[in-house]
Amino acid sequence: MRSALLLAAWPLLASAVPNAKRQTATKTLIPTTSFTEFDTYWDDLYPWGTDHNGGARMNASQVSVSDGVLTLTATPVSGQPPATNGGVEYQIHYLSGAIHAKQTFAVAKGGGFDFTGEFKATTTKGTWPAFWLTAVSGWPPEIDMAEWKGSGDISFNTFNTSSEVAAHDVAYPNSGDWHMIKAELRDEDGSTVRVKFYMDGVEQTTQYGKNYINAGLYLIINLQMEGSSGSPGPDSNVEYSVRNLEVVSYQ
Ligand SMILES: *[C@@H]1O[C@H](CO)[C@@H](O)[C@H](O)[C@H]1NC(C)=O
Ligand SMILES: *[C@@H]1O[C@H](CO)[C@@H](O)[C@H](O)[C@H]1NC(C)=O
Repeated sequence: MRSALLLAAWPLLASAVPNAKRQTATKTLIPTTSFTEFDTYWDDLYPWGTDHNGGARMNASQVSVSDGVLTLTATPVSGQPPATNGGVEYQIHYLSGAIHAKQTFAVAKGGGFDFTGEFKATTTKGTWPAFWLTAVSGWPPEIDMAEWKGSGDISFNTFNTSSEVAAHDVAYPNSGDWHMIKAELRDEDGSTVRVKFYMDGVEQTTQYGKNYINAGLYLIINLQMEGSSGSPGPDSNVEYSVRNLEVVSYQ
């Protein structure tokens, strides 16, 4: 019965295929082993330095790799000067970890990329781990392939402008477990990039970035604190871990 059903279904699947554009990955840009060859693929901190829009100052001392797993640790600290971002001052209450890929990524006409990884992310108030892409020059583009803003949700966001944002929040199951996140970026129409977001193999949402074609993107993994995730944050160390991170190109 089972095989008869499969046989019966096959012609339908086969006839559907010629209409679908079948794309094959052309190149692995970042392999799943990249954290063990850290200096080949990654640099510490944000591309622009140690500070951003929250209460953590990034420092290489907070980044470690063991058995292929990247761990970023936020540690409470006092006596640091404040950070300033966009005219806003942020009191620094933590040293934490951020890394960014040495290469940048720009979706070409007809092309795209898949960004995949497994994540163990904290959802405690005041913790703001993220896996995201942001503009090399100007802003936007920004695609938050996953961020956790201390609420128990995971957020998927794409910005056209600061006020025109597609934002999708989903309850994040079992934050102590590993979860697989994937973002598929593809040319939609020669100027817009289509982003499909997946968690644990299940599609979560599709968003569209205006004029994202040919726009360079930094890939960043960081454990920011407080800021959008609320305050005060925890008064002891917290961790954010990533493994099997991979970037493949379709262009
Ligand atoms: C990282 O921390 C160490 C010691 O806490 C400090 O000496 C160093 O300046 C820090 N680096 C940055 C980039 O802030
Ligand atoms: C962003 O722009 C794209 C392309 O025009 C559009 O499809 C999408 O709906 C826009 N997103 C938002 C949140 O308006």
